[in-house]
Amino acid sequence: MSRLSDLQSPLAQAAPGTPVLLEAKNLSRHYSVSQGWLKPKAVARALDGVSFVLQAGRTLAVVGESGCGKSTLARQITMIEPPTGGQLWMNGVDIAAADRAALKKVRPLVQMVFQNPYASLNPRKKVGAMLEEPLVINTQLTTAGRAERARAMMAKVGLRPEHYGRYPHMFSGGQRQRIAIARALMLDPKVIVADEPVSALDVSIQAQVLNLLMDLQQESGVAYLFISHNLAVVELIADDVLVMYLGKAVEHGAKAAIFSRPLHPYTKALLASTPRIDPAQRQQKIMLPGELPSPLAPPPGCAFNTRCPHAIDRCRAEVPALLPFEGRLVACHRVAEIS
Ligand SMILES: Nc1ncnc2c1ncn2[C@@H]1O[C@H](COP(=O)(O)OP(=O)(O)OP(=O)(O)O)[C@@H](O)[C@H]1O
Ligand SMILES: [Mg+2]
Repeated sequence: MSRLSDLQSPLAQAAPGTPVLLEAKNLSRHYSVSQGWLKPKAVARALDGVSFVLQAGRTLAVVGESGCGKSTLARQITMIEPPTGGQLWMNGVDIAAADRAALKKVRPLVQMVFQNPYASLNPRKKVGAMLEEPLVINTQLTTAGRAERARAMMAKVGLRPEHYGRYPHMFSGGQRQRIAIARALMLDPKVIVADEPVSALDVSIQAQVLNLLMDLQQESGVAYLFISHNLAVVELIADDVLVMYLGKAVEHGAKAAIFSRPLHPYTKALLASTPRIDPAQRQQKIMLPGELPSPLAPPPGCAFNTRCPHAIDRCRAEVPALLPFEGRLVACHRVAEIS
């Protein structure tokens, strides 16, 4: 079977020899959902055949409206739950085929930063203890060795030495997210999945935390799978972009290509509804009619056809494949005509 990394890549060019840390191929997560008493169960295709690669030191942003499957993807990548279909390779290890010993080695390599730093930190643990916790389980370090590592990490993320003995409630939102980032980094992961890491923060603090993430990446070569519905943030931080609609990728490629010339009608609409930094890039606002359909009853054909201004009969009958077009991948029957 061909892997995405073997194909001609539509992604932004990383330096030659940059290792592929993570690869997903046709990754799916379907949920069986009860519809009520005596009714048959329905299947929600929350994630439906998504493929991508993530290289060292790179950031792949996953964008799309609420409910398109971003967090479901994050839960597969962080191995919080197993996928119902497709393959996932982490550091060359096939997760589905790996035995317990192999999984134990691979798990710490992927860490997660959540949206809400108020909910994700244990209120009863001091910062130092929180940072040292992963070291207790996963390393042979002594108490003093763990404290040293925790203090070094605090300095890296911009926390002061006196913060070591404080509880999370004594910190602002931005500082709490620094603590969460520090904790995620304690085991020297290769990949960090960040699910809306700045959207709960004040706009003035968002840039600081994003800059911290970018600095840490420069220093350590960690890769980010960065989930966001905020395209201004994505434009700042991403190398590559995966646009999702109802569990599927509709456009995938280098950020520069997608932001300068979005091709899928859904990407166009998303970008048009986002305030842009560069005035030359501002476009006429496209309003998306209607709502995201339920993943329990996706429309036949292209899932976007119910909201697409270009939909024709073929779009209502045939699911479009994700195919190379103008240096990226696009899933649209009409891309050649409308671009
Ligand atoms: N455990 C579950 N059981 C049934 N359906 C689920 C489950 N988890 C998620 N879903 C459904 O899968 C779809 C995708 O959900 P997901 O949370 O991944 O979206 P999202 O893109 O992260 O949205 P948001 O931007 O609001 O965070 C939704 O329709 C959701 O209702
Ligand atoms: Mg989510």
